[in-house]
Amino acid sequence: MDRNLALEFVRVTEAAAISAAKWVGRGDQRAADHAAVELMRKSFNGLDIDGTVVIGEGERDEAPMLFIGEKVGTGKGMKVDIAVDPLEGTAITAKGGVNSISVLAAAPAGTMLHAPDTYMDKIAVGPKAKGAIDLDASVKENITAVAEKLEKPIDEITVIVLERDRHRKLIEDIRKVGARIRLIGDGDVSGALSPAFEESGIDMLMGIGAAPEGVLGAAGLKTLGGEIQGRLAFRNEEERKRAKDMGFLKDIDMKLTMDDMIKSDQAMFVATGVTTGEVLKGVRFTSKGAVTNSIVMRSSSGTVRIIEAHHDFTKKSAYGDW
Ligand code: FBP
Repeated sequence: MDRNLALEFVRVTEAAAISAAKWVGRGDQRAADHAAVELMRKSFNGLDIDGTVVIGEGERDEAPMLFIGEKVGTGKGMKVDIAVDPLEGTAITAKGGVNSISVLAAAPAGTMLHAPDTYMDKIAVGPKAKGAIDLDASVKENITAVAEKLEKPIDEITVIVLERDRHRKLIEDIRKVGARIRLIGDGDVSGALSPAFEESGIDMLMGIGAAPEGVLGAAGLKTLGGEIQGRLAFRNEEERKRAKDMGFLKDIDMKLTMDDMIKSDQAMFVATGVTTGEVLKGVRFTSKGAVTNSIVMRSSSGTVRIIEAHHDFTKKSAYGDW
């Protein structure tokens, strides 16, 4: 994929993040999400790609914009699969909490798993612990193997886990082994990526989150050199049937490796902070405009760029008025 595309994509997440950031702390997660979706959709228009949304806001009949199957871009460039979460952490944004981002991933057409809108059991680590995890192994086996790879005692291992009732047993098991837990209210895309950044203090992600977010995490970790494994986790028979009918997996219960989720080594991952988190600062509004922090990564080169952009609202933007 054209490497300049990655830098074009950052404009898309910047625009969505700024738009969502206007809703930080206002208690209205729908409005925050809508603002991000609208600006993200708008800013895709100027891109010379023949893009198809494979992970988006939902099915065509339930999402007016960025629905699965929607075409984005001018249609002139290369054919790419696009995964988006215009606002990952809608509740966090509404509460003014930490770690919400606007995120997108892209890969050559046909190489990204069309994840159904269900849950996924996930385990993820950064580059140093790659090869140490197995979703089918016990919590104790996984933490012990990761500690060995990282050459740390188990009591210095920190696992990031979504704070949910369904994770009671997982949390108990992790504590029994002697590791620490960082509980997060939302946002397991940044949760999956954080073990790849040593300064985050996180060594692993474990637990069940949304499946589309699993694929976004896979795109990010592929570019960062870490590892994620997942398995779809269905809440009912209807969800199982839908996943089967989608026909993208020969076995809907299979353990998914990073390559099952993103087949290409040409993936791109771009995210802009909405509220400040472990890796990215959130949007800061200034007297003239806003400052954003974004991460831009390509799996083929492995380069990770953190881009700080100063946006001037007094000048005309490509997306109309800020
Ligand atoms: P959204 O803000 O995009 O809705 O997702 C937030 C999130 O916390 C994801 O990071 C996570 O994968 C999922 O929700 C978990 O779902 P649930 O809140 O149903 O447990």
